[in-house]
Amino acid sequence: RNVIIDCDPGIDDSLAIMLALSLEELHVEGITIVCGNSPVEMGAGNARKVLKQMNRLDVPIYLGAEKPLKREYVSALDTHGADGLGESWLPEVPETRQELDAVEFLSRTIRARAEEKTGCSVIALGPMTNLAHLIQTDPEAFSMIEEIVSMGGSFKSHGNCSPVAEYNYWADPDGAALVYETAASQRKKIVMVGLDVTRKIVLTPNLLEYMKRLNPETGQFVQAITKFYFDFHWQWEHIVGCVINDPLAVAYFIDPSICEGFESFVQIETEGISLGQSVVDSMNFYRKEPNAKVLTQVDTYRFFEMMLSRVLEVEPESLDILENVL
Ligand code: BDR
Ligand code: CA
Repeated sequence: RNVIIDCDPGIDDSLAIMLALSLEELHVEGITIVCGNSPVEMGAGNARKVLKQMNRLDVPIYLGAEKPLKREYVSALDTHGADGLGESWLPEVPETRQELDAVEFLSRTIRARAEEKTGCSVIALGPMTNLAHLIQTDPEAFSMIEEIVSMGGSFKSHGNCSPVAEYNYWADPDGAALVYETAASQRKKIVMVGLDVTRKIVLTPNLLEYMKRLNPETGQFVQAITKFYFDFHWQWEHIVGCVINDPLAVAYFIDPSICEGFESFVQIETEGISLGQSVVDSMNFYRKEPNAKVLTQVDTYRFFEMMLSRVLEVEPESLDILENVL
């Protein structure tokens, strides 16, 4: 399936890019960058570092929004390190600048694939500002997106930026609100891969050690970019390991059977103390058509089976001790 990865690398975004590029089921058309975890230029630089590690510098990277739709930009460098990549300080990779910006690339690619009838989906792993700009400039192209899988929001789980708000939707609530509103008016459904499911995806020291044993080079790269994230999670969440949110959206995209969820109408709060909250009308108070599929359950074993076998390039059968490691 053709897909554009819209992201803000970011440690877990980088792991998601690694997973996406390891999947032969996916054709990654390009990577579009949005300001989020890191400012947009830094995010693009980090994406290049990941592409270099994967030997895939052929994948084009397009720069997107430098700031959210209305709010002031707030990065998450406190979580992802001063270089946005866990203070791994990997060498910079010279850029090959694309002429198109992220929104033009999204619009052209989605239209071209729709015309060919092969379709193009978007996996959104950062604030949804680029998609909001696409709606503002070419709403028809937005309507042609085959599937939108968004890491963001939360249903019953607490937030990670406020008691109720998750970072991607909190960082640009107006962008996220526009995307959900437009999905409702175009009768589309966004897959909301929120904290309810991503919090279950914890990369533990044991798992990391296992990864290094199975593929020392890739395992060491993962260790270099996640060390800071481990420390952050211990300090703020009292977790040994780190929650890797974004790769779950990629995994779900190619194998929806690893998650369960339900369809609902979802609205994003843009003001006040609940700013950025994803309000899920699970009891159908509003009597509105669902504009989202909200994920609530994940099979952690199957996620890590996919992640490890594909990224580390080992047969699933050789993950014989995965159950004990988890
Ligand atoms: C989301 O916010 C970012 O910090 C992560 O990359 C992820 O996309 C989790 O709230
Ligand atoms: Ca992200």
